[in-house]
This record gives sequence, C-alpha cells and structure tokens, in this order.
Amino acid sequence: MDRLPTLASERLRLRWLEERDVDPLHQIFADPAVTRYWSAPPLADLSAARALLQEIRDYFARGTLYQWGIALADTDQVIGTVTLAWIDREHRRAEVGFALAASAWGQGYATEAVARLIEYAFDDMELHRLGADLDPRNAPSLRLLEQLGFQREGLLRERYHLAGEIQDSLIMGLLRREWAARRPDASRTE
Ligand SMILES: CC(C)(COP(=O)(O)OP(=O)(O)OC[C@H]1O[C@@H](n2cnc3c(N)ncnc32)[C@H](O)[C@@H]1OP(=O)(O)O)[C@@H](O)C(=O)NCCC(=O)NCCS
Repeated sequence: MDRLPTLASERLRLRWLEERDVDPLHQIFADPAVTRYWSAPPLADLSAARALLQEIRDYFARGTLYQWGIALADTDQVIGTVTLAWIDREHRRAEVGFALAASAWGQGYATEAVARLIEYAFDDMELHRLGADLDPRNAPSLRLLEQLGFQREGLLRERYHLAGEIQDSLIMGLLRREWAARRPDASRTE
C-alpha cells in the first residue's frame, strides 16, 4: 500500500496525514500537557511539526510504525493521532499509542479512535497481540486501555529518563482472542 487506509467510526475518520495537517500537529504536540507522559518533548515550532510529518512518512515506508491522524468526520479537522508502533509481522504484534489535542479531551474521542485501531490491527493486519507502554501515573490513558480490555502485565521500574525525570513503565497487553470475546455477538458464536 502507498498510504494508510481511512478507517471510519461513528464520529471520526482515522486518515493519512497531509501537508495541511502540519498546523494541527504542531498545536497537539507543542502542548506540554499533551507530552507530559509522551516519549518525546513538546515540539519547538512549526518546522519541528514538519519534521514530525516527514518522520511519520519515513516510518510508514519502512513498515514499522503506522500513525494515523484522528479527524472529526464532519469537518475533517485533525484533533489527534493514533499509532501502531514496533510492528512485528513475524510475531504478529505491535504497540498502540494515542494523543489528542487538550481541547478535545473528555468526549470519548480517544476511546473511539483506539477501538477502531484495534479492530484494524486484529481483523485486517491479523495481528495477535497489542501492547501498550505507559507511565502508571497517566490516569486517562490507563483508564482508556483498561476499558478496552488491556490487562496490566508488568511494571518496569525507572525505565525512562524524560525531561529530567526518571519514569516507571507499565506494560499492558490485549490478545486477539480477548478482543473477539468482547464483541457484542461473541456469545452467539461461542
Ligand atoms: C490519553 C488521552 C488521549 C485520553 O483522551 P480523553 O479525551 O480523555 O479520552 P476519553 O474521553 O476517550 O476518555 C478516556 C477515559 O479516561 C477518563 N479520564 C479522563 N481524564 C482522567 C483523569 N484525569 N483521571 C482519571 N481518568 C480520566 C475518562 O473519564 C474516560 O473514562 P470513562 O469513559 O470511564 O469516563 C488524552 O488524555 C491525551 O492526549 N493525553 C496525552 C497523550 C498521552 O499521554 N498519550 C498516551 C501515551 S501512552
């Protein structure tokens, strides 16, 4: 494929990021509230956002990381991104990542976007396991992942050194069969 497919959900479109999305990417990732528990510091300026878009394309070309824009279905405005990182086709696994502009928090958009991403990863890419790696103090992310069925698997102590701070790393995981069992029609097929 030459670009990521568009994935539709009720209120959102997960879509390929374009040059015109550099501004929203900057707004999202220049905000220290968004990058508080992110793996990179806030973007310094618009040229850093341009470099981020180029990096997203380079990773896509290598097939190791897919990062979609989360766009509102009615305006096509990009309000965040969702990611499948560390894509490993041999072992059929990847790690999920997600971030939303602070102005869009608290409306269930992240849960809706990540649920659609999971569906694509298991149904279309036929992955077997999805992981997540987060700071255990990142309460909204932890809540979101647990609501979608991810289980806590282990705590790696003092694993990151970010913005002058040592951070722990909580590893979570969701298996394809666990996701399948959560589908509304699962009880009828089992
Ligand atoms: C993680 C993030 C995308 C969640 O966005 P959101 O808009 O709050 O997500 P949702 O509205 O789908 O809500 C997720 C859940 O977290 C809960 N939540 C939100 N803020 C919370 C807080 N401060 N403490 C505890 N739970 C919280 C919500 O209530 C919701 O649970 P509910 O459905 O039971 O009400 C957003 O906080 C963000 O962009 N954070 C910065 C980036 C980041 O840290 N990404 C993850 C790196 S691993």
